[in-house]
Amino acid sequence: MQLSFFDNSAPDQTAVLRIQELRRLIEQHDHCYYQLDAPAVSDAEYDALFRELAALEEQHPELITPESPTQRVGGAPIDKFRAVSHRLPMLSLDNAANEDEIRNKLDLRVKKELGLADTASVRYMCEPKMDGLAVELVYENGILTTALTRGDGITGEDVTENIRTLRGLPLRLTGTGAPVLLEVRGEVFLSLSAFQKINCDKEESGEPPFANPRNAAAGSLRQLDPRITARRPLSIYIYAPGYVEGVSFSSQHEFLSAVSSWGLPVNPLAREANGIDEAVAYYHEMLAAREALPYEIDGTVVKVDSFDLQRELGEKSRSPVWAVACKFPPRQAETVLEDILLSVGRTGVITPVAQLRPVDISGVTVARATLHNWDEIAAKDIRIGDAVIVERAGDVIPAVVRVLTEKRTGSERYMPPPEKCPQCGSSVVRIADEVALRCIGLSCPPQIRESIKHFASRTAMDIEGLGDKIAGQLLSLGLIKNVADIYRLTKADFMCFERMGDKLASNLLAAIEASKQRELSSFIFALGIRQVGERTAKSLSQAFGSIDNLEKATMEELTSIRDIGATVARSIRNFFDNRDNQAIIRQMLELGVAPQSGAKKVGGRLSGKSFVFTGSLTRFSRDEARKLVEDLGGNVVGSVSRKTDYVVAGEEAGSKLAKARDLGLNVLSEDQFLALIAGL
Ligand code: IVH
Repeated sequence: MQLSFFDNSAPDQTAVLRIQELRRLIEQHDHCYYQLDAPAVSDAEYDALFRELAALEEQHPELITPESPTQRVGGAPIDKFRAVSHRLPMLSLDNAANEDEIRNKLDLRVKKELGLADTASVRYMCEPKMDGLAVELVYENGILTTALTRGDGITGEDVTENIRTLRGLPLRLTGTGAPVLLEVRGEVFLSLSAFQKINCDKEESGEPPFANPRNAAAGSLRQLDPRITARRPLSIYIYAPGYVEGVSFSSQHEFLSAVSSWGLPVNPLAREANGIDEAVAYYHEMLAAREALPYEIDGTVVKVDSFDLQRELGEKSRSPVWAVACKFPPRQAETVLEDILLSVGRTGVITPVAQLRPVDISGVTVARATLHNWDEIAAKDIRIGDAVIVERAGDVIPAVVRVLTEKRTGSERYMPPPEKCPQCGSSVVRIADEVALRCIGLSCPPQIRESIKHFASRTAMDIEGLGDKIAGQLLSLGLIKNVADIYRLTKADFMCFERMGDKLASNLLAAIEASKQRELSSFIFALGIRQVGERTAKSLSQAFGSIDNLEKATMEELTSIRDIGATVARSIRNFFDNRDNQAIIRQMLELGVAPQSGAKKVGGRLSGKSFVFTGSLTRFSRDEARKLVEDLGGNVVGSVSRKTDYVVAGEEAGSKLAKARDLGLNVLSEDQFLALIAGL
């Protein structure tokens, strides 16, 4: 028998070490990004680390572990959630509706039970009461193994696969001293901006929107397909221990700081209070801060800090004696829907808006609420004159949650969808697959005004000073008819404007001039193509590199980009196929608009090399492949020629592969391509 010096069964040590290093780096960057809100590296650098890890794990599948950052979205869809008992019941809290109740239901009771004088000062921990849904997480030997919903407090549902997709939650604990078994409880929630985005997407795809962020968070967590949950940016704050083995905490503040040191997210607004007066002050402080927070809170929670005292106080009727939920006034109110107004947006969408009898909802007078679309009006059977419940969350536009049909008198009136645009009288159509009604008038004034405002807005071409008022004046004076005309304006044009001095006019012209050099992604976003938001505009800019390339992009090329499906691709093609749009873009380029594409990397390892991708790629998407090549200085082209350096063939590659073989070009499999990228 011949002995070999090489043991093929032993994992490659360099790969093992690099994989460990990459996982650690990615976990650190996730922590900085999602918890500290302070990214330590650029998106591109992060993506590069992630891709390197994915490629190494692909080559060494035996080294893949469930807690690897690449395995967050691993689970397949399931039929139903498994019921699992909590090791310790998950209790609920007694509520206090105001300052007096905080004192009576907590402080006085605690002092009485502990035999303390009324004047004694108890140490409390105060926390925001997150408005989401409670879950329990189990970490065994530092690894997240199970996540359960609260359920009825005794038995919950196994949502482990979904919880694993929360990017701000570590799949393994970091730091030192993590116990063998750590059960923690916390609240899963959605930020207000994520909630708004989800509802916009829902409206675009014709689904009913969520009434509030809590419902949206619950709906997202209770998805049977973890891939859907992964697309919803859920967050979590940990606020209580469950069953723990191998460590003991003496107080709530010690618990919070320990779990935070192990990488778990803890609300930074949690604060100790010396005596109930400080806890009451905290309640008022949070009530005032509520409007400015990026997520919904529905009160504060005050807990006796010492765990010894908590044990001594115990629980009564399924609520702990040592804590109370101090509720804020509700975000809902009853009022009357007096009329339905029609608002025309930039893309011609006509949105029904409820005109309400003004009502105070936690300090803000609400007189308008969105009704979303006519499908929603029909589904909720909303009629003019109805008594309705209105809800508002933070800065989000208030919404009509439901109709109090029991209060109907018979005088309420249904309002049918409009047949003509309320602004320009053009026809209104309902485009197939859309819930929205749309005015198709090309010269509909509010549409043009909105499109100019959008074009000039900060995240688009950023033309400071060109807001609603100036746009309206420019249009009504006939100085502009479309966005290209902005670049034809002279100082003399502004001189007849109200309150427009020489300085203001010069500033405005300077802002217009500066906007000519904006990033390509901002320019694409500014065009106002339907369904193309900032993120899609960035992907398009990265994938095509110039407006010319984008204009020529085929449906196939567009849909090969991550996050771009057939509907968005169709909308992009429709936009560029429109002759008016082509003419306006041409004019802008002739007038000196020169969108800047991200500089190409020169001198990279693949500098000057051209790649063609063909067939269906299973290991990475086309735009991921493009990015990999471009990051190393190469470029990706659409068709095979003698000059092509590499043809990467996926499954079922057809004529391009045949041509490459005919020409004797380098043909790579997906694995060989990854090896080339990794420099192997
Ligand atoms: S402590 C035994 N702390 O409020 C008490 N709960 O009404 C355990 N909640 O089911 C809960 N933020 O979903 C606690 N900082 C916080 C909280 C919080 C939100 C929720 C939780 C619980 C409900 C109780």
